Amino acid sequence: MTQHDPRTVYLRDYTPPAYLVDEVRLTFRLAPHATRVLSEIRFRPNPDATGRDFFLHGEGLKLISAHINGAQVTPELIEGGLTLDAPDAPFTFEAEVEIDPENNTALEGLYRSNGMYCTQCEAEGFRKITFYPDRPDVMAPFHVRIESDLPVLLSNGNPGASGEGFAEWSDPWPKPAYLFALVAGDLVAHSGSFTTMSGRDVALNLWVRKADIDKCAFGMEALKKSMTWDEEVYGREYDLDVFNIVAVDDFNMGAMENKGLNIFNSSAVLASPATATDADFERIEAIIAHEYFHNWTGNRVTCRDWFQLCLKEGLTVFRDQQFTGDMRSHAVKRIDDAMLLRAAQFREDNGPLAHPVRPESFVEINNFYTVTVYEKGAEIVGMLRRLVGDEGYGKALDLYFERHDGQAVTIEDWLRAFEDATGRDLSQFARWYSQAGTPRVHVAEDWSEGRYTLTLRQETPPTPGQPDKQPVVIPVAVGLLNPNGDEVVPTQVVELNEAEQSFAFDGLSARPVPSILRGFSAPVILRQEQSDETRTFLLAHDTDPFNKWEAGRDLARTNLMAMIQDGTGPDAGYIDALGRGIADESLDPAFRAQLLALPGEDELAQAIFETGHAPDPTAIHEAREALRHAIADRLGDVLTRLYDTHQVTGPYSPEAADAGRRSLTNAALSLLSLTQGGDRARAQYRAADNMTQQIAALGVLLRIGEGEAELKAFEDQWSHERLVMNKWFGLQVAASAPRDAAATAEALTAHPAFDWKNPNRFRAVFGALSGNAAGFHAPSGAGYRLLADWLLKLDPLNPQTTARMTQAFSTWKRYDADRKTLIRAELERIASTEGLSRDTSEMIGRMLAD
Ligand code: BES
Ligand code: ZN
Repeated sequence: MTQHDPRTVYLRDYTPPAYLVDEVRLTFRLAPHATRVLSEIRFRPNPDATGRDFFLHGEGLKLISAHINGAQVTPELIEGGLTLDAPDAPFTFEAEVEIDPENNTALEGLYRSNGMYCTQCEAEGFRKITFYPDRPDVMAPFHVRIESDLPVLLSNGNPGASGEGFAEWSDPWPKPAYLFALVAGDLVAHSGSFTTMSGRDVALNLWVRKADIDKCAFGMEALKKSMTWDEEVYGREYDLDVFNIVAVDDFNMGAMENKGLNIFNSSAVLASPATATDADFERIEAIIAHEYFHNWTGNRVTCRDWFQLCLKEGLTVFRDQQFTGDMRSHAVKRIDDAMLLRAAQFREDNGPLAHPVRPESFVEINNFYTVTVYEKGAEIVGMLRRLVGDEGYGKALDLYFERHDGQAVTIEDWLRAFEDATGRDLSQFARWYSQAGTPRVHVAEDWSEGRYTLTLRQETPPTPGQPDKQPVVIPVAVGLLNPNGDEVVPTQVVELNEAEQSFAFDGLSARPVPSILRGFSAPVILRQEQSDETRTFLLAHDTDPFNKWEAGRDLARTNLMAMIQDGTGPDAGYIDALGRGIADESLDPAFRAQLLALPGEDELAQAIFETGHAPDPTAIHEAREALRHAIADRLGDVLTRLYDTHQVTGPYSPEAADAGRRSLTNAALSLLSLTQGGDRARAQYRAADNMTQQIAALGVLLRIGEGEAELKAFEDQWSHERLVMNKWFGLQVAASAPRDAAATAEALTAHPAFDWKNPNRFRAVFGALSGNAAGFHAPSGAGYRLLADWLLKLDPLNPQTTARMTQAFSTWKRYDADRKTLIRAELERIASTEGLSRDTSEMIGRMLAD
């Protein structure tokens, strides 16, 4: 993938479309192997275009006939679409094409899942349905007629005429083709309704297979909460008479925001207490909110081109994070988001796949729906809000919606709304979108005569294609504590925009203890010389919940690094401080569960790599287990008390308060089992009346090698529930001892229920394998080989999911020569495979590039 690769698309090459579309009419005659799609598209020359070449995207389409203004034409079929001599005036183009949904295993375009027809068009899937300018800056109202004997026929917008064997839908809001959707199947609805702030009634439906009707209530409530929240917090009202959500079992992603017809991976919407965990409920609430929020941030205002993806995704993730914070706990949510950002986005930024939040080029856009675009994109929105304040943020968003409703816009348009609404110059801030890599912020302190000075220095390491970095604008939230633990300077945001800058605080009677980057106010790595005493002090006294948690995390990391690198033992001082934290009844149980979460093995591997050494995944795993043992040993009484006194009684509720207690008691259970065996977990397993308690107990038992019987019982109990069986598959691999992980995964691939063409099932096994760091990186290389074998098997059928899962290998350059050799061999084996998809070959190419 070089600069000259003809398949590479560049941001700088953007040109406006030659023709715009005023209206689209589509008729679908559904048949499994030979669906006919009839289109009638009203084109008009674009006054802002630079050329008049008429090109329509199309892939895998059998063209039956084409007409312009009613006269038959013979378009020239070329790579990726068709061209023809089009009038330099408004005209109607008609085409009839045939497609084969049954053989569409890529799950992009129109495909079948369990006998139901459904679509996935983002980013470039509409071109697999019919010939069309499949680019987001071409927006049009759509009218759709579906002909099929299936009982439920759905498309975007409002329902029109329907009858025996047909249904019509009209979507009045101009939209890009990527938001088109169609569903046809034998489905039932869980229905509800919502009255908008201006008094319009909206019919809400969640469409599922009959067997799943008991898993819809929570999703429906989450949808209503999302609609209310967007009205109250952003002043955004829903704009159609109906809002439909459909659950499908075969789906590459989590969910999709098609206008008025969201399509969800069933794992991202279906939940009952018996089948879904607290974490599933929370995720479902967030994803429903996310897709709903796209109605304004993505649909009404969309992206000019796919380089602007963070415009809708980063902003919408930020909005769903705010929503979850409001529904649950801001402190706990911020910690979860920071953990995810560090585990996944920093990992991406530190490796060969690093790219800016707005990339400059791509081969396959599906490869750029990344944690960087999403999570760092959301962090950028959060920084903007911090810099301009809540009021400025509100004004900027109002202006953005008012100015750009119905348009396809860019990051520049977005930033201009902030500049115009607040008067702030954001030209330097814009570097956050173009510069890849995680800034490191180094801290130096000075104290003399009542003046405390913080000197902050920023530096961003080189990333592929970007050797030299410039300073970015970093909002650093700082508070100062007195040595007695009182806060003397409450949180204030200082702006670091130069390479190095000092900030002075006067009028202090004693040298303060700083609490820096409160609330994780910017997506940076803080480099701070801090003693364990200071960290223990902050863990006890910091008023900022994020930094209170962070202090404990830093203590744990330092201890683990010393155990791994210097062979020291667990630090009793840390464990005692942790014990005081988790015993503090003034703290939220969910927060205390987060205190108990040690840094992950992959995070430790990166930290070791940054000290100039090759991490040894086995040693990391062993040190982490040893520390867990030591914690269980030393804090046995506290943990037992927490387990006993924080049990939730009464009927199951997925609400934050109960979920928090369960996460605390289950964290305690997991530790206690290390020193006390499996009796407590077995009892919990037997008594469990909900999936959270059941699967937590099973996981604990498997990790201590005592779960045989429960594993079997679980399978017998749940073999008919696909979503629960995904957990059964995944957990066995996740809980495997490192040396058994690959063998466990391999054995599971021979299980009759291992339906590898289903992305959820494939990910359950192989996502768990790559997530079991010490197992995946076992010295034999068995994990690498197994994953590569299965990626090669999946690639011809489903390139998108295959390409995503190649990321398991992305950290390969961190490791020792033996592991590097093994991984390189697998990457090269994949790269040299005949007929490899564009998706996978781009990913492997980037990972192998120097
Ligand atoms: N627009 C995306 C779905 C999508 C992603 C379509 C990639 C095509 C290619 C949707 O809004 C989304 O972001 N979904 C996330 C979940 C969300 C809560 C972050 C997903 O599917 O993982
Ligand atoms: Zn999204």
